Amino acid sequence: MTNIMNSKAFTEARKKAEEKVKELNLTEKIGQLSQFGTSIYTSEEKYFEDHFAEGKIGAYLTIIGAEKTNKVQKDLVDASRLHIPALFGDDVIHGFNTTFPTPLAQSCSWNPEVVRRGCEVAAKEAYRSGIKWTFSPMVDIARDPRWGRVVEGYGEDTYLCSRMSEAAVKGYQGEGETLEKDHVFACMKHFIGYGAAIGGRDYNSAEISDQHLHDVYLPPFAAGIEAGAATVMTAFEDINGTPATANKYILKDILRDELGFEGMVVSDAGATSELTHHGFAENEDDAAIKAFNAGCDMSMQLMGDYYNHGLPVGINEGRVSIEDIDESVTRVLTLKYLCGIMDDPYTDESISNEAFSDDHMKATYDAAIECAVLLENDGILPVRNAKRIALIGALAGDEGKRNLLGPWAAHIDPEKTVTVEEGFRKALGESTEIVYSYGCSVADDGDENDDNTIAEAVKVALECDTVVCVVGETAGRSGEASSYANIHLPGNQEKLIDALVATGKKIILLVSSGRPVIMTNFNKKVSALMQVWQMGSMAGQAIADLVLGKVNPSGHLTLSHPRSEGQIPIYYNHYNTGRPLYKTDRWKTCYRDLESSPLYPFGYGLSYTSFEYSDIKLSATEMAEDGEIEVSLNVKNTGDCDGAAVVQMYIRDLVGCRVRPVKELKGFAKVWLKAGEEQKVTLRLPASSLAFHDFYMNKIVEPGKFKLWIAESATDNRYEFDFIVK
Ligand code: GLC
Repeated sequence: MTNIMNSKAFTEARKKAEEKVKELNLTEKIGQLSQFGTSIYTSEEKYFEDHFAEGKIGAYLTIIGAEKTNKVQKDLVDASRLHIPALFGDDVIHGFNTTFPTPLAQSCSWNPEVVRRGCEVAAKEAYRSGIKWTFSPMVDIARDPRWGRVVEGYGEDTYLCSRMSEAAVKGYQGEGETLEKDHVFACMKHFIGYGAAIGGRDYNSAEISDQHLHDVYLPPFAAGIEAGAATVMTAFEDINGTPATANKYILKDILRDELGFEGMVVSDAGATSELTHHGFAENEDDAAIKAFNAGCDMSMQLMGDYYNHGLPVGINEGRVSIEDIDESVTRVLTLKYLCGIMDDPYTDESISNEAFSDDHMKATYDAAIECAVLLENDGILPVRNAKRIALIGALAGDEGKRNLLGPWAAHIDPEKTVTVEEGFRKALGESTEIVYSYGCSVADDGDENDDNTIAEAVKVALECDTVVCVVGETAGRSGEASSYANIHLPGNQEKLIDALVATGKKIILLVSSGRPVIMTNFNKKVSALMQVWQMGSMAGQAIADLVLGKVNPSGHLTLSHPRSEGQIPIYYNHYNTGRPLYKTDRWKTCYRDLESSPLYPFGYGLSYTSFEYSDIKLSATEMAEDGEIEVSLNVKNTGDCDGAAVVQMYIRDLVGCRVRPVKELKGFAKVWLKAGEEQKVTLRLPASSLAFHDFYMNKIVEPGKFKLWIAESATDNRYEFDFIVK
């Protein structure tokens, strides 16, 4: 597939870069490898003007706005000898101004088009604000919801994350031969294994076998690079004892040699200098030299000037080669030619970035309605003909303006958020009375006034015929540097739920959180339970329309929801072990005080309608190692409202030269069906998708017996088939 990294345009850009690099002196070369700017760590915005004349700046981060970037760019270009413009990058993670659902929420749509479209809109708004490069998508496989950054990725499954990864790259970069207007370079992060942080503690060490690294964590990066991702960002953590930012094995042997990546590698913010904290470098110069020599082309630096300082030392000491410097500079300049800034470094200030336009707000609404996951429903949903609705919860009111946007929301305008209360009032007009009550604080420690506000909420609930309560987390409780040992609902929210349940009313509970929270204490006490994540600028309207049945929930979980923190890490595609998982048993792979299954499994999600799978056929029950089996089935909407089914295809390799997971997702399809409509669905299973790395790191497709399931979740075993690979 042609993309911006293997096109004629890339080849031409590379040729121009190879010529241009010859004009630069050593200081200017190393300057191209140095990124400066503000970020989440520093509020002070600095431009490092004293670096301009010598050409010591190659890129900026988090300096945004067409006018501001043009001003900084012009000063830099005019002051430098060769007038090479800087590349402006930013964390455009789930929207630029118009905010989309968090990436974890988007993954629950099981619709790559949701991800692509969201990235496309974000790219347009960012591009028109002077940004040419986003530090996204984050494709770290995560199996530990204590880790705050689970919110930023696409869940626990390698196959699904890979599909979302390629969709994100296509959304950001477009699918043409060069980086067109309104598109930005993508950045696959964090390379690699960041989500395997021990204990779910951010930045913590990760111990990953080479087989696991290749079979579980690498494919989403490979998929993004295959789709043409222009850059990769190194991770903070040490992986198997070598910090990722100075890990030659992952940055050269795997990224360059195995994946054939020809783009540019940038460190995470300050990660080069952190090599000293890791105990991997003597000092910051040593750190810069080791990071560069391992394959980290550019240093993203906020407080220090690591590359401009350390690489000349490396050259003088004979530890850094000028050939390597030239190659890295060529990679940076290639991107600058490819996105056109070498010809025109400036952004057209006359064009609106269309932030919060009807089109962009519709795009985020369309995404949000596909991301919510219905977990429980005794039939109370969708709400119809309510006369008086009690709408309870801090997150349902004005506190939702910021918190429904989630973390890593770049340049937001909370006043543009449609709150849940506003969504209900808009959807219902004068037909139904909405009585709002605060409920209680969502802060970690609650609030001393919670008992009073909970009492008020109870009173309101008793006076209404329908009770909708929104609980959850603040936006800041997930994301970077937000690992929690306790992932129950913060504060007194469970107390609020219990008080509402005690009224005897049927409670509709909506959970707005970045990560899966522990729901064990209340999931069976309420009449309906919906995971509504943090779904962006139109979250409130989407939530109201879902509860009122204007749209039908179609989300399915992409992270297993644990019963307790004690179960973590928990994921569906685990090995069987010699004493397979049982309920609270003994002498088995289980706890004696808690069953080992998740509260809600990967792939799980309910609908207001029902679907029937029939006539499931395999094109063959055996295939060669280079063969393919086609699975077809009919899916029928057997309910009385339109909806979308998420057909999932899992396999199990029954006997392997290394033990194999009890299930692995290898295909899925989302199908929209009107009430009563039936549609044929076809999924393909190439034998190559069964490949894994053996003990000696050979990637093999091993002959043998397999199981295959067509399912509605990872625990749905109703439709089981056998096949063999010869
Ligand atoms: C942060 C994050 C990274 C982000 C970068 C720039 O520390 O780890 O994902 O892109 O710094 O803000």
